[in-house]
Amino acid sequence: MSDKATLEIDGKKYEFPLIVGTEKEVAIDISSLRSTTDSVITLDPGYKNTGSCQSAITFLDGEQGILRYRGYSIEELAEKADFLEVAFLLIFGELPTKEQLEKFHADIKAQSVVDEDIRKIVDAFPKSAHPMGVIASLTSALTAFNPSSVNVDSEEDMYKAIVKILGKFPVLVAWTFRKKNGLPLDYGDKNLGYVENILKMMFKQPNEEYKMNPIVLNALDKLLILHADHEQNCSTSTVRIAGSSHVGLFASLSTGISALWGPLHGGANQAVLEMLEGINADGGDTDKYMAKAKDREDPFRLMGFGHRVYKNFDPRAKIIKKAADEVLNDLGVEDKILEIAKALEQEALKDPYFVDRKLYPNVDFYSGIIYRAMGIPTDMFTVMFALGRLPGWIAQWREMRLNKEPIGRPRQIYIGETLRSFKSIDKR
Ligand code: SDX
Repeated sequence: MSDKATLEIDGKKYEFPLIVGTEKEVAIDISSLRSTTDSVITLDPGYKNTGSCQSAITFLDGEQGILRYRGYSIEELAEKADFLEVAFLLIFGELPTKEQLEKFHADIKAQSVVDEDIRKIVDAFPKSAHPMGVIASLTSALTAFNPSSVNVDSEEDMYKAIVKILGKFPVLVAWTFRKKNGLPLDYGDKNLGYVENILKMMFKQPNEEYKMNPIVLNALDKLLILHADHEQNCSTSTVRIAGSSHVGLFASLSTGISALWGPLHGGANQAVLEMLEGINADGGDTDKYMAKAKDREDPFRLMGFGHRVYKNFDPRAKIIKKAADEVLNDLGVEDKILEIAKALEQEALKDPYFVDRKLYPNVDFYSGIIYRAMGIPTDMFTVMFALGRLPGWIAQWREMRLNKEPIGRPRQIYIGETLRSFKSIDKR
């Protein structure tokens, strides 16, 4: 294949280099487009055909349904690794040795207390506040309590900021959950594993010992791994573009949390459960809702279906669907909602509307069913997504800063009024 692309505009030819990635993906490097043509730019709403960066963190092939973190398949990692190992892998590029993992965890535990004044911010929120709004604010507030910005050129500074957020974020998640449920804002136990400690911080009742359920622990660890990174999705791109202005790590992460909240993105896991509960409350008539999803006049969409990149099964959805069966079975939970989800999936997989548009279940379609079985309320589902995605956001932010990428500033094509003169108000 040639190493150049040729563009012809008004009979004039322009050549641009082709960039080929390690997985043979090809991009046209148009960084000189505007300067070599008469200020011509490209236009690609939603960036469906536009790459924002070259990254070595996550590879996904939407046509084949492949997802790998630093070259390791998501199937292997979900099966054999634990969440903290995967966090280390995403951020530093290699699976940790036993010693590295122990030191990483110890350094995180040393940072797993938050300033008592943050309780005052938590207390200021009404119980009715959506947890995603609370956790986005609390994450941004960390900047106030940790003002020193990250010197990304210093490995030590970068490492300190990483273990700080990995230590404090789970506390903020637990406090967000507990505040809403009228429970005291507590800490977990430094002698526990990273995910064990998250469960204890969230669910420990003030008047009894917390009993760890290995089924719930294993399910949460796997869910967090499956959500850990997903290349340049909406919230990760938000974290990268915010960070490209050289604003701090915590403030950049807070922007990603807000972007993730949207029902078309991470907020879909909450929207899926609400949709399934709505269908169940309406008698479980899946045919009626399939018809609504296909009706262009009807705003109803089958939440948890479709994906910007996956035009095949989302590999994470396959793993989560299997885990949902196992967790509900092991917990002895009969959930009509799971049956409705499976019925919708079966119907969609053979319906031309969905088949022609390559709409398959995505990561959000089954995850809420497991969270619910674990006792996590629906409006906390996207917070759990953020907890999983945190290492991915950190890894992507760090890569963007280490690569000294320029500030993100897209162009536009202006289609508004051309020059016109001001009219005084009596003449309008
Ligand atoms: C996540 O990017 C990532 O990697 C995200 C994520 C991650 O890990 O970070 O994977 C997590 O956000 C998963 C996606 C969760 N969102 C949902 O489940 C919401 C429901 N899905 C859709 O809104 C939609 O599929 C998107 C937003 C996910 C993708 O939208 P696109 O790529 O912009 O596609 P589109 O909206 O242009 O849809 C193409 C066609 C349209 O029909 P036509 O105009 O061709 O007639 O498919 C239809 C759409 O109407 N369509 C759906 C549908 N999704 C797309 N029709 C019914 N139900 C749906 N869910």
